Amino acid sequence: MLRARIAVLVSGGGTNLQALMDSRSRGEMPHSALTLVIADKAGIGAIARAERGGIPCLVIPRREEGFEKRVLDALAEYRIDMVVLAGFLGILSADFIRCFSGPIINIHPSLIPSFCGQGFYGLRVHEAALSYGVKVTGATVHFVNEIPDGGRIIAQKAVDIQPGDTPEVLQRRVMEEAEWQLLPAAAEQVAKQLVEQLK
Ligand code: GAR
Repeated sequence: MLRARIAVLVSGGGTNLQALMDSRSRGEMPHSALTLVIADKAGIGAIARAERGGIPCLVIPRREEGFEKRVLDALAEYRIDMVVLAGFLGILSADFIRCFSGPIINIHPSLIPSFCGQGFYGLRVHEAALSYGVKVTGATVHFVNEIPDGGRIIAQKAVDIQPGDTPEVLQRRVMEEAEWQLLPAAAEQVAKQLVEQLK
């Protein structure tokens, strides 16, 4: 294997998907092939980004019967080696994780173990950090296991909270200062390990 074939699962605007594609365009992901995007609902911004980036994109609605089976079938069909959850807001079942043999990694917008687990996603994470009153937050990339946000940590980056931050302002700062650098670097690191294992 020269490059790990990666599927990116998305639920929203897709700025983390964009960061992966931009990093690839800059030649920073030599062991990674962004092969497939799976969107869990129609009409989300990430789909247009995938199209502009020339990556095949399947829409598999998460609320429909058989979601995980359909995703697993797509991963097999596209011979995917590793999965990146880039703003994917569902929780994958233990069965799913057992059935897919490669690594699955996720980006979470806080410093795990703070503000994570079931119910902590998207803006809610930043609302929780602000209402707790922490002065530093950040982002974490971790392996996915059967515990939501509970798998081994790959990389973290801290971001300062500023006086007057709103959840939206903080979300943007965490993306700009942490997520968009951390996710491509961590995905490439895991892809490189996969490629080297199979040499
Ligand atoms: C990102 O902040 C990501 O870390 C978060 O959702 C946002 C998606 O933005 N993910 C989670 O909260 C997962 N628990 P994007 O669609 O623009 O990448």
